[in-house]
Amino acid sequence: MSAKGHVAQKAPIAVDVEADRSYWWCTCGQSQRQPFCDGSHKGSAFVPQEYKAEASRTLYFCACKQTDKAPLCDGTHNKI
Ligand code: FES
Ligand code: FES
Repeated sequence: MSAKGHVAQKAPIAVDVEADRSYWWCTCGQSQRQPFCDGSHKGSAFVPQEYKAEASRTLYFCACKQTDKAPLCDGTHNKI
């Protein structure tokens, strides 16, 4: 995907993921359930991005949607 999504917020969201579970990261930035998809992308060119957790741990998901390491925060939110 070339275009990035709407900035939902300029800070990541910590999520305790569970091993072997799939999570659907919101790429469009319109979801009301950040950082994950709630279906609000419908009608746009955006689709959610799957993240399969390899281990149970705390991860920081990007909520600004401008990261280059999607779905995780890479610090880009500090530059917007
Ligand atoms: Fe943003 Fe689904 S609501 S990708
Ligand atoms: Fe998007 Fe940090 S929240 S890069």
